Amino acid sequence: MSDMCNVALLGQKFMGRAHSNAYLKAGRFFNLPKTPVRHTIVGLDLIALAPFADRWGWRNYSTNWKEVVKQSEIDLVDVSTPNCMHAEQALAALAAGKHVACEKPLAHTLKDARAMKNAAGRARRSKTFVWFNYRRCPAVALAHRLVQEGRLGRIYHVRAKYLQSWGKPETPLVWRFQKKYAGTGAHGDLNAHIIDMARFITGHEISEVTGAIAETFITERPLPAGAARDSISGGGRRKKNVSTGKSDVDDCVLFLARFKNGAVGTFEATRLATGNLNNNSIEINGEHGSIRFGFEDMNLLWFFDNNDDKATAGWRRIMCTSAGNHPYAGAWWPDAHIIGYEHTFVNMVADMMAVLAGEEPTVPLPNFADAYETQRVLEAAMLAAKHRAAVKLSEVK
Ligand SMILES: NC(=O)c1ccc[n+]([C@@H]2O[C@H](COP(=O)([O-])OP(=O)(O)OC[C@H]3O[C@@H](n4cnc5c(N)ncnc54)[C@H](O)[C@@H]3O)[C@@H](O)[C@H]2O)c1
Repeated sequence: MSDMCNVALLGQKFMGRAHSNAYLKAGRFFNLPKTPVRHTIVGLDLIALAPFADRWGWRNYSTNWKEVVKQSEIDLVDVSTPNCMHAEQALAALAAGKHVACEKPLAHTLKDARAMKNAAGRARRSKTFVWFNYRRCPAVALAHRLVQEGRLGRIYHVRAKYLQSWGKPETPLVWRFQKKYAGTGAHGDLNAHIIDMARFITGHEISEVTGAIAETFITERPLPAGAARDSISGGGRRKKNVSTGKSDVDDCVLFLARFKNGAVGTFEATRLATGNLNNNSIEINGEHGSIRFGFEDMNLLWFFDNNDDKATAGWRRIMCTSAGNHPYAGAWWPDAHIIGYEHTFVNMVADMMAVLAGEEPTVPLPNFADAYETQRVLEAAMLAAKHRAAVKLSEVK
């Protein structure tokens, strides 16, 4: 088995940068059993590709993903394109015998996600991964471990929200606001992350969505132009007399859920929570304790231990940077020399390389089958909102 892993990365913008950085840095900070090689970067914009390849150290660049995924030297295809492309590209890569890492949500429709899960199941020599990178915040990985160790006991409540505010009226009609490219709006973008996080930390599956609201507040958006074309932060103030197009995805989705173990949960994702920039947070209450995590203070895990002496009990603020005690911390800096967003991707590359070398990841990695369970919950919530009714997960295949 080669100790090199030649990567073809499809997509060269936001996630293209995050993943390029991760492949670049993983071997610098972790002792990897396999080294990712930045073999080929693929995108649509030929003019931007050469400088991108040069900046991030990709050996080759191409606008032809169909040809690249079949190349014999490629070991891992990383699908970081808009959601509507995931299935076609991942299926082609699996058919060519490659390992596949795919961005979330798994696909823009449940049907595509199912095809991906089934193809991954058949491709026995290929490993699949899905970039639910927030699992790889040390604090989230620690929360997962505390629950596994029984420190929370029986889980009663999951309270998850992912609040952003960039979807204001002047933000142009980028692919994220169009169903044909994205599938859904804030839902697949943000609820996907917190559904995965809830499933990952608690180890419990959702059995029913008991009610949901999906709302589109901004139905017309300016057509993108120039630099704003691909931007998620918008093009400044809305100008008069600009052409507009229809946004046909949700701006927010809220839903209530029951878990198989009897726990109950609330989930909220929005792009219009003014004042919240990337407020991805979760609180979980159990019989023996609770945990609380918020991404904007991602180095911290808050833990309440019900067994503490009442006189001194309280929420513990745990700085998750202690090597040997906190997941991933040993690869980075001395205590309290904090890490950030990009490190979650680097941690994920380190775990993917471990799995490809036959070793265990630090904490479980989601594969296509796992991400399909999250996709089923996304689907159940949209059905619940549409029909104003409860939807059992057993009804969503
Ligand atoms: N894990 C996370 O935290 C996170 C954050 C943002 C986005 N995402 C996900 O990553 C994916 C990409 O999002 P993004 O923000 O990087 O989008 P983006 O618009 O910034 O970049 C998309 C890239 O895909 C390329 N592309 C589009 N169609 C293509 C095709 N047919 N062949 C080859 N390349 C093609 C574009 O040229 C561009 O480089 C989405 O699925 C999104 O949901 C995940």
